[in-house]
Amino acid sequence: MSSAIEAALQSVLQRPTEPVMLDNPIDMGQLPTPALVLDRATMSSNIRAMSEHLGAHGKGFRPHANTHKCPEIARQQMAAGAVGICTAKVSEAAVMVRAGIDRVLVTSPVSTPAKARVVNHILSPDITLLLAVDSSAGLAALAAAIDDDKRIGIVLDLDVSMGRTGLREDELFLRLLDQIEADPRFYFAGVQHYAGHIMHIPEFEKRREKSLKSWQRLADKFELLAARGVTPSIVTGGGTGTYDIDTTIEQLTDIQVGSYIFMDEEYRQVQGAGSDRFQGFELALTVACTAISQPQAATITVDGGYKAFASDSVNPVCDALPDVQFRFAGDEHGVLILPQVEGAGQNEAPPVQLGQVLEFAVPHCDPTVNLHDQYWIRETDGMVHSIWPISARGCSW
Ligand SMILES: Cc1ncc(COP(=O)(O)O)c(C=O)c1O
Repeated sequence: MSSAIEAALQSVLQRPTEPVMLDNPIDMGQLPTPALVLDRATMSSNIRAMSEHLGAHGKGFRPHANTHKCPEIARQQMAAGAVGICTAKVSEAAVMVRAGIDRVLVTSPVSTPAKARVVNHILSPDITLLLAVDSSAGLAALAAAIDDDKRIGIVLDLDVSMGRTGLREDELFLRLLDQIEADPRFYFAGVQHYAGHIMHIPEFEKRREKSLKSWQRLADKFELLAARGVTPSIVTGGGTGTYDIDTTIEQLTDIQVGSYIFMDEEYRQVQGAGSDRFQGFELALTVACTAISQPQAATITVDGGYKAFASDSVNPVCDALPDVQFRFAGDEHGVLILPQVEGAGQNEAPPVQLGQVLEFAVPHCDPTVNLHDQYWIRETDGMVHSIWPISARGCSW
């Protein structure tokens, strides 16, 4: 392996992966803010709800670890019946495998020699590693890198309209199938289809229609497989936004749900089936911030900004203060716009006081998690008892 990528791999493999119990539990006011807080009971209930829902519809639960990047959470998902864990990239997979997760699907196509060498490094007879591939270059890189005594499952990534990853042409699909069958180190595990652009369509019926149409557009690929006498053992895809839609797709074997485990403001603004709210999962993840400065009466400043919250979509929301709006005020700060109460007297208590710790629903959970080193785990007594490391933080390679 080239020394640069080997050094990067060795450094992520040395990170801690185990929870740490605090000697003395702390309350929210003692957190070193901004702090990523995970409510364990709510997360467990979300995991259980998703696993039971998919099981009841005859589909596998293949949760995506690019949401949480935490081996301890992956273990809990496996214990709740997951058929395996997804990771976005090979470095994330390396961290999960090292922490004992033995069934991993890397959902972003591997296409370069350096990444293929990382795959070879991770592979061992003790684990099932599945890789999304969508190009001849990817398969050639793997063919050059994988040792003769190793075996790897290839999942062909299929695109119909998102235009991010995945192949479309039948000719390439058949050529890759031929190449997989011709190499004893590879086996054809199945196909993947992920339509990420559909997940946050606010109207449920529109989301449903688009997702079902997207799967229907793969019919020709299933016909090509049938004509070869091949039944894919895995047909994987979908996400939180379509968890109760894609279950009607006959060929689909499992769903790659990520954000449901925490929920975030983006998903909370999406309609559920027959409801204005997304149904089935509650907010488990927040960023706690402290009010630290008040240059003017109409606003108060908290200690979390772009470095505490991903800012690619909506703004953070404080459920405890529905009339207060968060505005980003740079890397380290957010400004809360306080409600102006008509005729409020001088003696009236302000809605937020200096030193107060507030919790905010995060705009987009996956990239927010990637900004933090650990989860502060809150138990049902309202106290933080442990810290779980986000071991795959920054593993976006
Ligand atoms: C390929 C793939 N599958 C599944 C997911 C999970 O999506 P969600 O967080 O909406 O459940 C993602 C999210 O990034 C993804 O990239």
